Amino acid sequence: MPDVCITLPRPHAHQQKILDSNAKIKVLKCGRQSGKSTIAKVSAIKAMLKGGKVLYICHDYGLSKKFYAQLLEVLPAELIESNNASTLSIKLKGLGNIEFYSGHATLAMRGTDNVALMICDEFAFWRDPENSYYNDIQPTLARSNGDTIILSSPFGRNFFWQLWIEASQCTNGEMEAFYFTILDNPFISQEFIERTQRTVPANTWLQEYLALETASEDCIVEADVITRNTIDELATGECVVIGIDLAKSHDYTSITGLNKQGEMVLHHRFQKDWNSTIDFITTLPAHVLKVIDSTGVGDVVFDQLCSKGVQNLVGFKFNSQSKPELIKELILALERNELKFTKTTADELGNYRFHYSSKSGYIKYEGLPFDDTVISLALSNKYRKQVIYNNNFANSFAVF
Ligand SMILES: Nc1ncnc2c1ncn2[C@@H]1O[C@H](COP(=O)(O)OP(=O)(O)OP(=O)(O)O)[C@@H](O)[C@H]1O
Ligand SMILES: [Mg+2]
Repeated sequence: MPDVCITLPRPHAHQQKILDSNAKIKVLKCGRQSGKSTIAKVSAIKAMLKGGKVLYICHDYGLSKKFYAQLLEVLPAELIESNNASTLSIKLKGLGNIEFYSGHATLAMRGTDNVALMICDEFAFWRDPENSYYNDIQPTLARSNGDTIILSSPFGRNFFWQLWIEASQCTNGEMEAFYFTILDNPFISQEFIERTQRTVPANTWLQEYLALETASEDCIVEADVITRNTIDELATGECVVIGIDLAKSHDYTSITGLNKQGEMVLHHRFQKDWNSTIDFITTLPAHVLKVIDSTGVGDVVFDQLCSKGVQNLVGFKFNSQSKPELIKELILALERNELKFTKTTADELGNYRFHYSSKSGYIKYEGLPFDDTVISLALSNKYRKQVIYNNNFANSFAVF
């Protein structure tokens, strides 16, 4: 093959540190426009030129397509053996290749062998980054002893942030943590930086551009509150109340049971069709009060459960008044250390936000990507005290 010339961007100082690092796992906590995709692109090309197989994994197909297009812009046509714009893959002549996978469905990459480099983009925003990391990423790389670059802006203190902390504290050189922001990217003009800072909300600037996961002014409670009330495993003791949030579209059905002390003693989280969901709920203990979201389609589920003879069932209807009230009660209980919960719930609580609209005067509560465990905890919390004070609760509740 004739000599070919590839022009790659000259890395800025922080990008260079990533190229120089020998760590097998590089975790990049970086803000928007800091240059993370550029360094991922350079790393991918270098690995392919060495003959390696690269996997690029991202939850957003649009970002994957952009990365694919950017690679094709840099790679000379005479070097490309084949490329596929719909499945997104590029094979270089006599050299390496790159395949693309979805961060929401990392199961699909199981069985892929000889991976030299795995690039996990916007990792904090994947559906289940922890599960993907331990069950799909690590086993895939174990066989080939390949490298990983995990890059993202933070999303609260979820698994990505924990991994970045782990990398920061790693002393054997296997993992290395990197942190840089738009302010470290010399290719962004001062004028753009000042204008962006002026025009985006303060929280967006801190969380997205400065990659500060502690920028949590809109979290419903301080991170410390969540940390000190997180338990390693479900508590023991009699379950006195169960909150049930039903999966509505892309999320999960979450079922949270508490004992008298407010400790989580039962937790189920799943995606099933309605009939299987209803069947599952009928297996919950008959004598325990069950509070279920009966809004919208939940109303139909509630009726079906009643017609199946499920006892001690209360419906809760969400509306612009009942939801803020429910969450306010949850916040108070959390701040008073009245609730103890396991990690999945802790992670969702860390990402559960409120937005105040000065226009409408309403506070909107929202959990991204999911809020089902927060809602099931809130529902069980609301009724827990009533159960404690009213042992004979069987017929004492009405539909809320
Ligand atoms: N080493 C470099 N040389 C030249 N330009 C660079 C370099 N690194 C980054 N840039 C430019 O800075 C801008 C931001 O870079 P990049 O897209 O890599 O950042 P990002 O962190 O992935 O951004 P986003 O958060 O929007 O995905 C782009 O215009 C890119 O071309
Ligand atoms: Mg990018």
